[in-house]
Amino acid sequence: MDTAEIRRRFLAHFEAAGHAVVPSASLLADDPNLLFVNAGMVPFKPYFLGQETPPYDRATSVQKCIRTPDIEDVGKTTRHGTFFEMCGNFSFGDYFKEGAIELAWTLITKPVEDGGFGLEVDRLYPSVLAGDDEAIELWMKVTGLPRERIVQLGNKENYWSMGVPGPGGPCSEILYDRGPDFGPDFDPTTLGPDMPFELEDRLLEIWNLVFMQDDLSAVRSKSDFDIAGSLPKKNIDTGMGLDRVALLLQGKKNMYEIDVMYGVIAKAEEMTGKSYGDDPGDDVRFRVIADHVRSSMMLIGDGVTPGNDGRGYVLRRLLRRAVRSMRLLGCEDRVLPELMPVSRDVMGQTYDNLLTDWARISQVAFAEEDAFRKTLQAGTQIFDTAATEVKQSGGSALSGERAFALHDTYGFPIDLTLEMAAEAGLSVDEQGFRGLMAEQRERAKADARAKKGAHGDTAVYRGIFDEHGPTEWLAYETLETESRPLALLSGGASVPRLAQGEIGEVVLDRTPFYAESGGQVADAGTIVFDGGQLEVIDVQRPVKGLVVHQVRVLDGELDASSRVHARVDPEWRIGARQAHSGTHVVHAALREVLGPTALQSGSYNRPGYLRLDFGWTQALSPEQVRDIELVSQQALRADLAVSWDYMTLDQAKDWGAIALFGETYDNTKVRVVEIGGPWSRELCGGTHVDHSSQIGTVVVTGETSVGSGNRRIEALTGVEGFGYLARERDVVSQLTTLLKTQPDDIVERVQGLTERLRAAEKELEKARLAQLLGASADLAAGATQVGPVKVVAHRADGAGGGDVRNLAMDVRGRLPQGEPGVVVIIGNADGKVSVVAATNDEARSRGLSAGDLVKAVGPLLGGKGGGKDDVAQGGGTDASRIDEALALVASEVGRVAVQA
Ligand code: ALA
Repeated sequence: MDTAEIRRRFLAHFEAAGHAVVPSASLLADDPNLLFVNAGMVPFKPYFLGQETPPYDRATSVQKCIRTPDIEDVGKTTRHGTFFEMCGNFSFGDYFKEGAIELAWTLITKPVEDGGFGLEVDRLYPSVLAGDDEAIELWMKVTGLPRERIVQLGNKENYWSMGVPGPGGPCSEILYDRGPDFGPDFDPTTLGPDMPFELEDRLLEIWNLVFMQDDLSAVRSKSDFDIAGSLPKKNIDTGMGLDRVALLLQGKKNMYEIDVMYGVIAKAEEMTGKSYGDDPGDDVRFRVIADHVRSSMMLIGDGVTPGNDGRGYVLRRLLRRAVRSMRLLGCEDRVLPELMPVSRDVMGQTYDNLLTDWARISQVAFAEEDAFRKTLQAGTQIFDTAATEVKQSGGSALSGERAFALHDTYGFPIDLTLEMAAEAGLSVDEQGFRGLMAEQRERAKADARAKKGAHGDTAVYRGIFDEHGPTEWLAYETLETESRPLALLSGGASVPRLAQGEIGEVVLDRTPFYAESGGQVADAGTIVFDGGQLEVIDVQRPVKGLVVHQVRVLDGELDASSRVHARVDPEWRIGARQAHSGTHVVHAALREVLGPTALQSGSYNRPGYLRLDFGWTQALSPEQVRDIELVSQQALRADLAVSWDYMTLDQAKDWGAIALFGETYDNTKVRVVEIGGPWSRELCGGTHVDHSSQIGTVVVTGETSVGSGNRRIEALTGVEGFGYLARERDVVSQLTTLLKTQPDDIVERVQGLTERLRAAEKELEKARLAQLLGASADLAAGATQVGPVKVVAHRADGAGGGDVRNLAMDVRGRLPQGEPGVVVIIGNADGKVSVVAATNDEARSRGLSAGDLVKAVGPLLGGKGGGKDDVAQGGGTDASRIDEALALVASEVGRVAVQA
C-alpha cells in the first residue's frame, strides 16, 4: 500500500468517526520553546491547555514534523528520520482512553479490502504505563487480547510530554513484532520498565496513544518531570508514524526504502555507481542522503534559510551532510540539482508549495551547496598546508587544535579531516579534537541558557495565565488605558511590590503595549500610578495570550493594589508603525523588481529603521537597489490604503497573502495586512499606518550578504529617513564650499583631484628613489676593505624594505668588477627594521653568503631572516642595535673570507 493511500485511509477513518480533518501546520512552531513542530499535537497545544476553545471536539491530521536530537545517528537505525509525518487523532475533552483504543485498533486490524491496514493481530502488542490498570482492562475488553499480551513499561517509554513544559500524560503504544530476523525472542510479561535496546527494531512502535491529562511545569528528561496539576479536561493525542506503517505494509526493512524515500537512494546509486545493500557503511550514507535531502527541502519550503544558529544551522548541517555523504560515496559533482527534484516530485503530491515555490526552494538549497563546495576547497588548502608542516617537522599526527580550527573556521567536518589525513598518511588527535568540541558545546549551551533568561521557565507565567486568563490586549485600538496590575515579578518570582529603582515585571489586566513579535520591537512608554511612575523597557508574551511588561520603577513604589495608567509613547508608536509598514512596502517592491522568488526570510523593525532578509544568491546591482527604492517611494506617493482583516488561512492563501512562518491551525484568527489591495498582502500581527504616505519616506541605506543564499536590505523610514538625507546634503554642501564648486560638479572635481594626487605621488616616489640611489655611488666608493673584500655596511634610516633592497642591489652593481664585494643595508622605517644583504660572484667563491649574513645579524635586530647566497632579506623590530649589527657584518666577513 503506498504512503498516499495510508494517509488517505487514516484521515477517512477518523473523518467517518466525526473528526474535523485539519491540514498540516508549518514546521515552524509558534512556540518559543520549540525549534520545530515535533509532534502532531503541537498546533493544538492551546486547546489542551484550555487557553483557547477549539472549534471542534475531535480532529485528525497528518502533521509534518522534524526531530533533531541526534542528527549523527540518522541512517544508523532503521526507524529514525529527521523529517517524518505523524498521523494523529485528537479529542479535546470528548472521548478518552476507551475511544482512542477502539478507533486505533479498528483501523490497523481491519482487513485491507475493507479500508483498514490489515495488520495480523498475533503480531500486535499494546503497551501501557506500568500500573495503569484501567488501560489494561480497556485493551483486553476492546481487543479480546489476554492480559499476558499487554506489556507494562515505565515512564521513559509510556509517559509522553513535549520535552518542555506543557501538556502530557500516560500513554499506550501499539508495538508490532517484526519477527526473529529483527531481534531475540522475548516474554511480554517480563518486559520493562524500559524496552530492551535489542528489541527496539523487532518490536516496532507504530502508534502512540497519549491520555493527555496533566499539566507539566518542568521537564528534565523523559522520566523526570514535574506535574503541576491536571488539565481542564481529559484529552486524547495520538501519533501514528506514517513511514513506519508504510514500511510494514510495503514489506520493507526500514523507512528509507519506502515509496516516498527510495527514489533519492536510487538516484544516488545512479550518480555514484555504487549499490545500496552492498556495504553497511555506504548504506548509512545512502540513508543519510535520502533523509537529509527531504528534510532540508521541507524546511526551506516552510521558510527556513541556512544560517549559523537555531533553525538555520540545522538546515545548513542537513544540506552539508547530504552533499558530504555523496562525496564519500565517490560523487564530487553538484548533487542537489539531481537529488532534490526526485524528492520534490513525490512529496509535492502532498505538499504543493514544493511545486509552486520550487524556484525559491531550489535556489536556496543549491546556493548552500555551492557555498559548501567553496568551503571544502578553501579548507582543503589549509589542510594541505597543515599536513605538509606536520610532515616536515617529522610528526605523524595532526593536532586536535588543527582539526578543530578546520572545523570551526572552515566548517570542515571531522570525518573529512580524518579521511584526508589518512590519505596523506597521517593520523589525527581525535581525542583532542573531541575535547575542544565538547568545550565549545558547553560554551554554546551556557550562552543559550543566558539568552533564554527570565523567560526560560514559563511556569510562573502559566500560573498567572491560569489564574487570570489572557491579557485584554488593546494595541490595535488605543495608546493609553486605565488598568490594574495582576501580578508583579522580580527575578522571575512573584513579589508583593516593586520599589523605586528596581527592575521587574508587571502583568496588567489590559494593556495598549505592543509585545515584540513578527519582527517589530516592543513599544516604549510609561505606566503611571498614584505617587509614582514606571518606565517600560520591554514587552514580551512568554505564554500565548499573556502580555508581560519589563519595567524600571522611576519613582514611588508599586504594589499590587495600585490603579495604573498605561501609556505608550505616541512618538515611538508612530515611528514603529512607519517602520513596519515600510517593511511590507520594501518587501513588495523587492518582489516587483526581483520577481516572486525573492521572499523574506526574516525581518526586524523599530522606529525609523527596518531591515529585511531575503533569499537571494547574488548581490543586487546599484540599479536594482535604486529601483527598489523608487518603487517604494511610488507606493508612498500613491497614498495606498492600509487595512487589515481576520480570515481563515485558506482564504488568506486564496487572497495571495504571503505566509511563510509558523501559523497554527487557528483558522479563524489569521490577520492579513494589505497595502494597496493585492499589491502587498502579508500575514502579520504588527501595527501599521493607515495610508502609505504616512510612512513619510523609505531610504535604502544598505544591501549586504548575511550568509549564503541570503541578502539583507536596510532602510530608514519617517523622520529618520529625512535625517539621513539631510546629513548627506550637509556633506555635499561642505564639499561644495571646500571645493569651490557646484553640487553637480563635485564628482568630476574629486575625480580630477584624485588623478592629480596620484600623479604627484608618482613623481614624489621617483624623486625619492633617485635621491636614495644618488647616495649609492658614494656608498660604493666609500666601501671599506676587509682583507680582500670590499664591504659596504650602511644604515638607511627612513628606508622601508623595498627601498633597502633597491639600494643594496644598486650599490652591489657599482662595486669594482673582479673583486669580492659584500653589501649590507639596514633600513628603519615605521618601527620596522629591514635588512638586505647582497654578494657578488667573487665574494661567494670565497664562501661569503648573503643568507648567512642576514641570519647572523637577525637576532640583534629582534627578528630573523635568510635567503640565498646572492641576495637575502630579513627584518626585525629592534632599531637600537642597528650599528652593532653593521659592525658584526664586517667581523663576519673577516671571519669567513680572511681567516678561512
Ligand atoms: N504526541 C504523541 C507523540 O508524539 C502522540 O508520540
